[in-house]
Amino acid sequence: MEILRLGTDDIDLATQTLTLLKGNAAPDPSLHLSLGDEQGYLLAAVQNNQPLGFLIAYLLPRFSNPEPMMLLYEIEVAATHRRQGVGRAMIDKLKTICHKRNCFKMWVLTNTSNLAACGLYTATGAERHQSDEAEYVYHLTNECRS
Ligand SMILES: CC(C)(COP(=O)(O)OP(=O)(O)OC[C@H]1O[C@@H](n2cnc3c(N)ncnc32)[C@H](O)[C@@H]1OP(=O)(O)O)[C@@H](O)C(=O)NCCC(=O)NCCS
Repeated sequence: MEILRLGTDDIDLATQTLTLLKGNAAPDPSLHLSLGDEQGYLLAAVQNNQPLGFLIAYLLPRFSNPEPMMLLYEIEVAATHRRQGVGRAMIDKLKTICHKRNCFKMWVLTNTSNLAACGLYTATGAERHQSDEAEYVYHLTNECRS
């Protein structure tokens, strides 16, 4: 199994990965643009040309400090290949990227009810952040954009 960072040359594999594992109904017309974004990371776990998992992460500048942060935004492994080290391998790869990019920290949000995700993050060295943080979401409609 290989863990690959997909770029603009990997549009077919990226489309296959996102269709198969993320349930994207149709190819995203902006995918090529996203793959060319230096701050965005789409990693794919691939075996015999078959995607087994993907991870999406974003490098965030801090403005007050030269060391950026890495947001681990999404991770998913095919149900048929869970508990075989695929998730761990993708996180290990992202941690290596973080070291290369001189990141201050890497963080991820999940639900405490998601035992697999909590287990994976703990097993790969993350500590649960104890706080009273709450998530607020702005659903930006087309009217707001105009
Ligand atoms: C979470 C997820 C990505 C884990 O991927 P995975 O490839 O199965 O994880 P790994 O095999 O690399 O597991 C590494 C370690 O994580 C922990 N872990 C993984 N799955 C676990 C589970 N179901 N329960 C408890 N711990 C678990 C274990 O410590 C495991 O090591 P071990 O198998 O030697 O005990 C996978 O379950 C998944 O795709 N879930 C659905 C999508 C999802 O919930 N994503 C996270 C959103 S925040």
